[in-house]
Amino acid sequence: MFNIILFGPPGSGKGTQSERLISKYGFKHLSTGDLLRQEIAANTPLGIEAKNFMDKGQLVPDEVVIGMISTCVDNNPEVVGFLFDGFPRTEAQSEALDKLLKLKQTEIGVVLALEVSEEELVKRLLNRGITSGRTDDNNEEVIRARIVEYHKKTSAVADYYRKFEKVVNVPGEGSVDEIFDSLCREIDNRI
Ligand code: AP5
Ligand code: MG
Repeated sequence: MFNIILFGPPGSGKGTQSERLISKYGFKHLSTGDLLRQEIAANTPLGIEAKNFMDKGQLVPDEVVIGMISTCVDNNPEVVGFLFDGFPRTEAQSEALDKLLKLKQTEIGVVLALEVSEEELVKRLLNRGITSGRTDDNNEEVIRARIVEYHKKTSAVADYYRKFEKVVNVPGEGSVDEIFDSLCREIDNRI
C-alpha cells in the first residue's frame, strides 16, 4: 500500500488534484470535508454538530473526524492506497492517523504540500462560492477565518511529518495540468 496526504490551505486545489490522482493511480479518496458535507446533507446528528463549526470556518473537533476516518479505513481493506484530502488537520489527527495505519501495517508514504498565496486562495474560493452552494465559500470573512485556522492549527501537520522527512512542497499556482504533472512526478519517484 502507498498512502498519500494531499496537504494545503483551503482552496489550494486538494479536491481538484485528488480527482485526477485517484483516476490515474486508483487510490481510495478520503476527504473529511466531503464526508462531513454528506453527513450534513443527510441531516445526521454528526452533520448537525459539524455544521456549526464549518459555517464559522472553524475546525470540527478531532474526535469526530478521527472516528469518521477510522471507520473508512476499516471498511476499505483491499485498496492500493489511501489519498487523504483535508485530513489530518491538527497534530492530534496526525498522531491518530499514524496509529491507525500502523495497526494495518502500513504508513504515510509522502505528504504533498500545495503552496498557494493567500490572495489567490481568497480569489479562488470567492469565485467558487458563486456556484458551489457551500456556505463557507460565499463570505470573505469566513474564508479568511478558514485560512487563520489553517495557520493556527493545520500548518503543524507539515511540521509533524517534516520530522520524518515525508513532506514535499509543490507549487500550487499555474495550470491544473502543470500541478498534476508535478504531483505525479513526486509519486512516481516513491511508489
Ligand atoms: P474542506 O472541504 O476540506 O475544505 P478546505 O480545506 O477548506 O478546502 P477546499 O475543499 O475548499 O479547497 P481544496 O484545497 O480542496 O481546493 P479545490 O480543489 O476545491 O473542509 C471544509 C470544512 O470542513 C473545514 O473548514 C472544517 O470546518 C471541516 N473539516 C474538514 N476536514 C476536517 C478535519 N480533518 N478536521 C476538522 N475539521 C475538518 O479548489 C478550490 C477552487 O479553486 C475550485 O473552484 C477550483 O476549481 C479552483 N482551482 C483549483 N486548482 C486551480 C488552479 N490551479 N488554478 C486556478 N483555480 C484552481
Ligand atoms: Mg476540498
